[in-house]
Amino acid sequence: MKIAIIGNGGREHALAHQLSISKKITKIYSIPGNAGTEEISLNININLENFNDLYDFINKEKIELVVVGPEKPLVEGLVDFLESKNIKVFGPRKKVAKLEGSKIFTKELCEKFNIPTAKFKICKSKKDSFKFLSSFNFPLVVKADVLAAGKGVYICQNVDEAKDAVNEIFDGKFGRADQVLIEEFLEGDEMSFFIISDGISYKTFNTAQDHKRVGEGDTGKNTGGMGAYSPSSLINDDLENKILDKIIEPTLKAISEMNEKYIGFLYAGLMIKNNEPYLIEYNVRMGDPECQTILPLIDSDLLEIIDACCNSKLVTQDIKWKNKKSMCIVLCSKGYPEKYSQNVEIENLKEFKSTKDNFIFHAGTKSLENKILAVGGRVINFVNISDKYSSSRKEIINQIKKLNWENGFYRSDIGHKVIDK
Ligand code: AMP
Ligand code: GLY
Repeated sequence: MKIAIIGNGGREHALAHQLSISKKITKIYSIPGNAGTEEISLNININLENFNDLYDFINKEKIELVVVGPEKPLVEGLVDFLESKNIKVFGPRKKVAKLEGSKIFTKELCEKFNIPTAKFKICKSKKDSFKFLSSFNFPLVVKADVLAAGKGVYICQNVDEAKDAVNEIFDGKFGRADQVLIEEFLEGDEMSFFIISDGISYKTFNTAQDHKRVGEGDTGKNTGGMGAYSPSSLINDDLENKILDKIIEPTLKAISEMNEKYIGFLYAGLMIKNNEPYLIEYNVRMGDPECQTILPLIDSDLLEIIDACCNSKLVTQDIKWKNKKSMCIVLCSKGYPEKYSQNVEIENLKEFKSTKDNFIFHAGTKSLENKILAVGGRVINFVNISDKYSSSRKEIINQIKKLNWENGFYRSDIGHKVIDK
C-alpha cells in the first residue's frame, strides 16, 4: 500500500518508522517530512495551505491512504476535502476537530454531557472578564479560544496577572478574539490518555506522561514537550474505566448526536486527583512527544490498524503492546522555547540509527548538501524501551552525550516522578 503522512515533526517520523515496518507497505511519502523521514520515505514539499496541490499529487502518485499528523490541517478541514475527492484519510473531520480547535466548544460539550472538567466561565469582553475575575479564587487559568500551540494558556497567580492575560488575548495576540475562557486551576497529576476510533467503535491506545516545562524539576516556560514516558504510572483499571465512562464515551455520544463520527486518534489531556479524572483539553491527534514514546511499544501492524479504522473495521483488530517501559528525551536547540539559532549543523547524526530498543526520531531537522541542519526548537527525539525507566533514561543520556551536539540541550530528569522518588 502507498501512503502519505502529513507533517514534519517527531510524531510524523515515529509514524513513518512504525508504518514502514508493516508487511503491507510499499511506499511512504512524507509531506513535507524532515531529514529523518528522508531515510525511510520520500519527502515531498507541498504547500499545505493549498489542498488542491496536495490532492493533485496524491492522485498522480495513486496514494491509497493519507495519515494526518498535526492539528492545523485537521482543524482547517483537510479530511473533509480529501474525503470529498474519494481519498482514504485517517483523521477527524473539521466539525469534530473543533474539540481541539476551540476550547470553548469542548467546555460547552463537557457542561452539556456532564463530563468532569474545571469550572469555567466564558467572557465576551474585557469588562465582563474583569468583573468576573474579582469573584474567582487564585490561581486561575485564562485561555484564548484558538489553536496556539499551548501558548494561549496563562496560569495566573493574582488579579493583575489575569488582567494582563485577558488584555493580551482581547488585544489580538493570537488573532481576533471575541471571547476568553477563564477556568478554575486544577490540582493533581497530568496524564495523556489516547484512544483510536473508526467512527463506530474505539480502542484504548496507551497512556503517557509528558514533561511540558523547559527546566529541570518541571520549572520554567511551557514548551511543546521536552520528553515523555509510557505507560503513565497513574493508570490502573479503575481509573481507566472512569476515564472511559465519564469522559470518552460521553464525548463520542455527543459527536454522534451531532450526526458526526470520530475517525482518528483522540488524545485526552487529563488531570488526575485521588484516582478521579478531569478533562483539561482534547487534542484530535497523537501527542508529540507522546507518539514517539508510545509507538515503539506496539506489537501489532499499525498500518493494518489505521486501514481498518478507515474501513470501519477496527473491531477486527487486536492491538497488542509490548510489556516494556518506554521513554523519550527531546534534544532541543539552545534558547528554545524562546529565540534559538537556525541552520546549525548536527555532525555525526547520520551514524545514529534506530535499533531494536533505541529509536532516533527527527523533528526540526533538514538535510542540505549531505549535512543535517537543525531548523527547529525541538530537534531530535531519543527513545529507548527497556524493563525500567531508569535504564531507559541512562541509555538515552549516553546516546545524547555520544552525539555531543554543542548547540543542544535536554532535560536529564525526564521521568523524575517515577525514577527519583
Ligand atoms: P492546554 O493547552 O489547555 O492543555 O493547557 C496547557 C497546559 O496548561 C496543560 O497541560 C496544563 O499543564 C495547564 N493547564 C491548563 N488548564 C489547566 C487547569 N484548569 N488547571 C491546571 N492546569 C491547567
Ligand atoms: N505533548 C503535548 C501535545 O502534543 O500537545
